[in-house]
Amino acid sequence: MDKSSHFIVSIVLFLFTIINFSWSQGDQRNVICTKIERDALLNFKKGLNDSSNRLSSWAGEECCTWMGVQCNNATRHVIHLDLRNTYGWESQLSGYVSSSLLELKHLSYLDLSWNNFGGSHVPPFLGSLHNLRYLDLSEAGFDGVESLQWVSHLSSLQYLDMTRVRIVNSSDWLNMPPSLLKLRLSECDLDGIPSLSNVNFTSLVSLDLSWNHINSSIPNWLFNHRDLASLNLGGNNFHGPIPGAFVNLNSLKVLDLSLNHFNPKVLPYWIYNLTNLVHLDLSNNDLQGRILNDIGNLTSLNYLDLRYNKLEDELPSTLGNLCSLEYVDLSYNDFTGEMFRFLKNSSQCIVHSLRYLVLESNQLSGPIPESLGLISRLERFHISNNSLKGVLTEVHFGNLRSLDSLDMSSNLLVLNVSSNWVPPFRLEGKLRMGSCQMGPQFPTWLKTQRNFTELDLSNAGIADFIPNWFWNLPSKVSFVDLSENHIKGVLPNPLKFGNLQTSTDVYLGSNHLEGALPRLSSKVSILDLTNNKLSGSISPFLCNPMEEDNWLANLDLSHNFLSGELPQCWMHWKFLQLIKLGHNSLTGTIPSSIGSLVSLISLNLRNNNLYGEIPSSVRNLTNLMVIDIGLNNFSGNIPTWVGKSFPNLIVLVLRANKFKGVIPLELCRVSSLQILDLAHNNLSGTIPRCLYNLSAMATEKNTSNAYLYRTPVMPNGDWLGDLNDEIQLMVKGVEREYSKTLTLVTSLDLSSNNLTGKIPMEITSLLSLQSLNFSGNHLTGKIPIKIGNMRSMESLDFSVNHLSGVIPPSFSNLSFLSSLNLAYNNLSGVIPLTTQFQTFNASSYIGNPELCGPPLKKKCKEAETSPGQDADSEESEVDWLYVSMALGFVVGFCGFFMILLFKKSWRFALFGFVEDMTDKLCIMCKL
Ligand SMILES: *[C@@H]1O[C@H](CO)[C@@H](O)[C@H](O)[C@H]1NC(C)=O
Ligand SMILES: *[C@@H]1O[C@H](CO)[C@@H](O)[C@H](O)[C@H]1NC(C)=O
Ligand SMILES: *[C@@H]1O[C@H](CO)[C@@H](O)[C@H](O)[C@H]1NC(C)=O
Ligand SMILES: *[C@@H]1O[C@H](CO)[C@@H](O)[C@H](O)[C@H]1NC(C)=O
Ligand SMILES: *[C@@H]1O[C@H](CO)[C@@H](O)[C@H](O)[C@H]1NC(C)=O
Ligand SMILES: *[C@@H]1O[C@H](CO)[C@@H](O)[C@H](O)[C@H]1NC(C)=O
Repeated sequence: MDKSSHFIVSIVLFLFTIINFSWSQGDQRNVICTKIERDALLNFKKGLNDSSNRLSSWAGEECCTWMGVQCNNATRHVIHLDLRNTYGWESQLSGYVSSSLLELKHLSYLDLSWNNFGGSHVPPFLGSLHNLRYLDLSEAGFDGVESLQWVSHLSSLQYLDMTRVRIVNSSDWLNMPPSLLKLRLSECDLDGIPSLSNVNFTSLVSLDLSWNHINSSIPNWLFNHRDLASLNLGGNNFHGPIPGAFVNLNSLKVLDLSLNHFNPKVLPYWIYNLTNLVHLDLSNNDLQGRILNDIGNLTSLNYLDLRYNKLEDELPSTLGNLCSLEYVDLSYNDFTGEMFRFLKNSSQCIVHSLRYLVLESNQLSGPIPESLGLISRLERFHISNNSLKGVLTEVHFGNLRSLDSLDMSSNLLVLNVSSNWVPPFRLEGKLRMGSCQMGPQFPTWLKTQRNFTELDLSNAGIADFIPNWFWNLPSKVSFVDLSENHIKGVLPNPLKFGNLQTSTDVYLGSNHLEGALPRLSSKVSILDLTNNKLSGSISPFLCNPMEEDNWLANLDLSHNFLSGELPQCWMHWKFLQLIKLGHNSLTGTIPSSIGSLVSLISLNLRNNNLYGEIPSSVRNLTNLMVIDIGLNNFSGNIPTWVGKSFPNLIVLVLRANKFKGVIPLELCRVSSLQILDLAHNNLSGTIPRCLYNLSAMATEKNTSNAYLYRTPVMPNGDWLGDLNDEIQLMVKGVEREYSKTLTLVTSLDLSSNNLTGKIPMEITSLLSLQSLNFSGNHLTGKIPIKIGNMRSMESLDFSVNHLSGVIPPSFSNLSFLSSLNLAYNNLSGVIPLTTQFQTFNASSYIGNPELCGPPLKKKCKEAETSPGQDADSEESEVDWLYVSMALGFVVGFCGFFMILLFKKSWRFALFGFVEDMTDKLCIMCKL
């Protein structure tokens, strides 16, 4: 280049700079956004309610500088309007979308998401914004849209997000422009998916149809979208097979088919062909099968969620080769065998990548390898509810610096660390080590953990005092369980847990704690001190709450040595839902202030020395479902208001007190009652005929309402979880304690009173009654002929009365009867020869001088040998039919309980004896 040309270039460059300078000055002075577009924006703003003043910059001439507005640098046309609200609900724009937007003819980008257009419809005029390439109307409170026909006019549209916009007409939503690349229609109330032969938008790279109700098989057109990189069909009702054609979508990086109803339920093989997969979620599909070694081919995999399936067998060691894998959730499956084969070899890649490892609720066994301690990025490690064995040492936690949440409870593990161990981690989530043996000393390393939210050290073999530093709990802790150890000593008074900010459940039951009850921190919502050696009066505890505004909902002080009177202080504990003070030495009367506990669901004062009448303020407790004040010295009549005040009462136990008078007829109105125990009192009069109105004892139980309690909610809206209630019942002559009361149990016990008259025949309509005891009264007349109708009966006791007549043959219908006592009456005739009767021994029949035949020694006379003389002949024929049907019935019953056996959550709620029965019956099923 010569000098002159160099000069010219320099001049040109100089001029260009000057011109450019004046142009950009002109941006602000002369060439500004057009008045039409400015007015359009201002009119659009007029339709909006902007309470947080997000649009305060929308003033003046130059609309290109307004918040959320962008213009083309050359033409100054508005091309971009982004009003997405990322600041929380306080800064939501509301109002309506003005059609003035149509003046923004060059608009290519429109984002109105996360605002609140208060239930208005999506305006179809958006279909006239022909230059739109990007449209986001998600989570903006739009009530719905009739049809998506208007979208087909947006011939440049590449991105459309309508999350949470209800699409009324779900037949035409596939009519999208061919330019479309990303489509998000999550939670749009879609119930179908058109099965077109040709779909126009074949360039699609991302499709999200999650959380609709799409009830069809996966349509074939999907597999023409060879460029599809992300597909989310989770949370729908897709059924039929998972198509093998997925293998053609080999660009897929993200695949979510979780929570659908595919059939057959098998883990598809083609997942191993999709070698580009980064994110795979097939959770909640009940899929069977095993994970193959080929999983090692998915070298890009980062996220693997297969929880809630039925996958089995061992985890392949090739899992360890996945160098990008960070998130693994295989919980709630049936994986067996040694869990950590994929970790055995410390050279394995996964050691450097893994952050979440969730394997809880499987059947994994064997030890945990020391290489666990090398996973330095591990944040969540949940392996509870397996059969893992062995000793964990400091090496196992060697490098786990990032660990945030640890749940190893319910295994067979032992923690053996030195008393001055300082773990490398600082947990901020769970610290659950229930059943993990770490005693006898209280673990001092716990001192280093000051931020966890849940602590479970139950059944950990700790036989020590609780150190003072322990009580200063992290402020966000919501659950503390030290129960079932051998913890000794006195609780500090007051019982404060540091600076609690959330409601906290505290379980210290089944230890050796002694001394007086301390005053309690107001943030405790559950206090469980059952089965300790606490003594002294409960008055200081109840009468001096640390703050008036307390959250206590469950109070369990049962099985201690508490004494003194119940004080008149219940008004301080307004949110109580469950009181268990049973098995102490409390005395005095029930104070009337108990009537202020209007949320109370369960009241258990069993086995104390309480006396007096039930105060009428108890009528106030209309939410009560369980009343157990048995084994005290309460007296007076059973109040008639019991029949009106407790519409939800399921359990009423007044056993072993001094109640007198008649059984009030009003009791028959409590149709929800399933357990009525009035035994061992001084009740007189007849057994009310109206008892057949107790419909909960008369109707078959179904499992859908298997939970006894409505899930209680704390005043602050937190879930309280299960009420851990239990009830004692005399069944088959033995007192048993049933925890997790369930609607399946029914019992009626009026034994050891002074009841007279006949057994009302109406009682036989209580078809689902399982235990019936009228023993030790003065009942006369015959056993009701239709006793055999009570098919659920397991335990029946009419002994020690004055009953006469024969044993009704219909008894042989009672195929579950495992305990029978008819001793000491005036029964006569032959004991029927059916197996049903012969399985009981003579003690069930003795004391009836006129009764004869085996198992009694007394032989029958010739004339007596035909059973059921009193019964009409028609009925005895039916009896024999039922005997032969009994086996079939038992098998059907097994089927029902087999289902329960698999449903852990249902089983969890079952009464103990139902479980026993289940086990027994299901042995029969397998035979
Ligand atoms: C417009 O100009 C701004 C500032 O000079 C620049 O950051 C932006 O990228 C330009 N936009 C376009 C579309 O050219
Ligand atoms: C989709 O294709 C069909 C025919 O192949 C055509 O009639 C229709 O207009 C197209 N729709 C769009 C939105 O382009
Ligand atoms: C996975 O890789 C192995 C070894 O390269 C190969 O034999 C196997 O066929 C692959 N599996 C699939 C499903 O591609
Ligand atoms: C899937 O992988 C298997 C095993 O490598 C192979 O035989 C099969 O051809 C693959 N399928 C496709 C469609 O690539
Ligand atoms: C607990 O969390 C707080 C706030 O996140 C943090 O400042 C503190 O260092 C943490 N303490 C421990 C012992 O981890
Ligand atoms: C009964 O409950 C009401 C609130 O529902 C309460 O105001 C009243 O004091 C209670 N009665 C007694 C006797 O506690």
